[in-house]
Amino acid sequence: YVIGVDLGTSAVKTLLVRQDGTVQSEVTREYPLYHDKTGWSEQEPEDWVTGTTGALQELLSNSGVNRDSIEGISFSGQMHGLVLLDANNQPVRRAILWNDTRTTEQCREIERTLQDKLLSVTRNPALEGFTLPKILWVKQNEPDVFARASHFLLPKDYLRLRLTGAAHMDLSDAAGTLLLDVANKIWSEEVLAAFKLPSAFCPPLVEAGAYVGTISPESARATGLSPTTKVFAGGADNACGAIGAGILSPGLTLCSIGTSGVILTYEADASADYAGKVHFFNHGKENAYYAMGVTLAAGYSLSWFRNTFANGESFDSLLEGIEDIPVGSNGLLFTPYLVGERTPHPDAKIRGSFIGMDGSHTRAHFARAVMEGITFSLNESIDMFRAAGKSVDTIVSIGGGAKNPLWLQMQADIFRANVVALENEQGPGLGAAMLAAVGCGWFPTLDACGEVFVKHARIYRPNESASKQYEQLFRIYQQVYNQTKEIN
Ligand code: XUL
Repeated sequence: YVIGVDLGTSAVKTLLVRQDGTVQSEVTREYPLYHDKTGWSEQEPEDWVTGTTGALQELLSNSGVNRDSIEGISFSGQMHGLVLLDANNQPVRRAILWNDTRTTEQCREIERTLQDKLLSVTRNPALEGFTLPKILWVKQNEPDVFARASHFLLPKDYLRLRLTGAAHMDLSDAAGTLLLDVANKIWSEEVLAAFKLPSAFCPPLVEAGAYVGTISPESARATGLSPTTKVFAGGADNACGAIGAGILSPGLTLCSIGTSGVILTYEADASADYAGKVHFFNHGKENAYYAMGVTLAAGYSLSWFRNTFANGESFDSLLEGIEDIPVGSNGLLFTPYLVGERTPHPDAKIRGSFIGMDGSHTRAHFARAVMEGITFSLNESIDMFRAAGKSVDTIVSIGGGAKNPLWLQMQADIFRANVVALENEQGPGLGAAMLAAVGCGWFPTLDACGEVFVKHARIYRPNESASKQYEQLFRIYQQVYNQTKEIN
């Protein structure tokens, strides 16, 4: 067996995976988020360790497998979160997460300081969610705390440090810090110097599939794992999501609708130029990359809608009857900017809207409009890739958005592409398990592993008449951002 650990924003999910890629058992543990001020989003790193330790213990006892038959473990993690550590590897404050938006001022400072180096070296725009702005925020706003910090890690790297005793960061996660020279795969001395950060502030870099040691005796006791279990670095959740969905060769695109939503395309090298309009990160597969557009409130928009207007009901009951509502929800249009937006509008302040309400609209119209609005937002990323000359024909859909056949067909219609649903889709945790499976020598490459682990279940093809209707609505949708920007 191998274990894939996905350290998410609301919970950690652990998967025990067999050699044929099927899941023997899975255990999830939730932990709290702290929103002490508007725009703040923090977590206690200790909660990740306690949650994962408990989940691993339960995973082992539930499955009844002998600990010696677990050969390897690897990780997927929420990206960008800042874990500042002192010289003894103790966190000096809570972690500041990817969905924390306090750092607008620091983003402008990074743009002023780095100018065109920002794109040429880091390959990304300065966004509130990324790590460097968070480092600068702590330096400027909590100087006493910052003075105690000697280095930093990202969430899953901190968890791995606690399990092995060794600090590393893999390239796919390091790419989201704005400190990495993405094409050359090294920390950028230039960027570090521009913000007066010493080289020792950054941990050693490794590939996502790298072997980094074994479980420490102390963690072996706490988790029930064997101290000989091999540990592989792991990658960013989006990179692991791509691996777990088989996005391992040119021509494949991923649509992931979780709390946030992502459109991600495979890039064989670092040559593509999207002018900073989408994120450009190192893949978990060696030497490869991916480009990605993000909708901040994707699944979150539907959860918000349910919690606010259908409290206590399941998603199934919320979505009952929406198949009888026509394409376009009878003129009701939703923009999903509940917590700001990233692609194509890097704007933490914009807020969402319902437009076109009619006395005949029911709750089901609103629910359908929310799904359409989320999908339109993701289509803006696809539009951007196509405008840059990339062909987007086959999209593998994962996450909450892939659980509902109507939403999968809606994706095919709006994206004008074939949308593939997977059998027993497991998200980034499976990608992490695949890194461990290849590391343990079960397969020569991730591609070979993907052929066994990733199974296509069904293809949804675009319906021409629905696609045409959606195309018209999409043009209207695209105007709403500029029209509502002034209000917020
Ligand atoms: C990516 C991003 C999110 C997080 C979610 O840039 O911020 O997708 O990785 O965990």
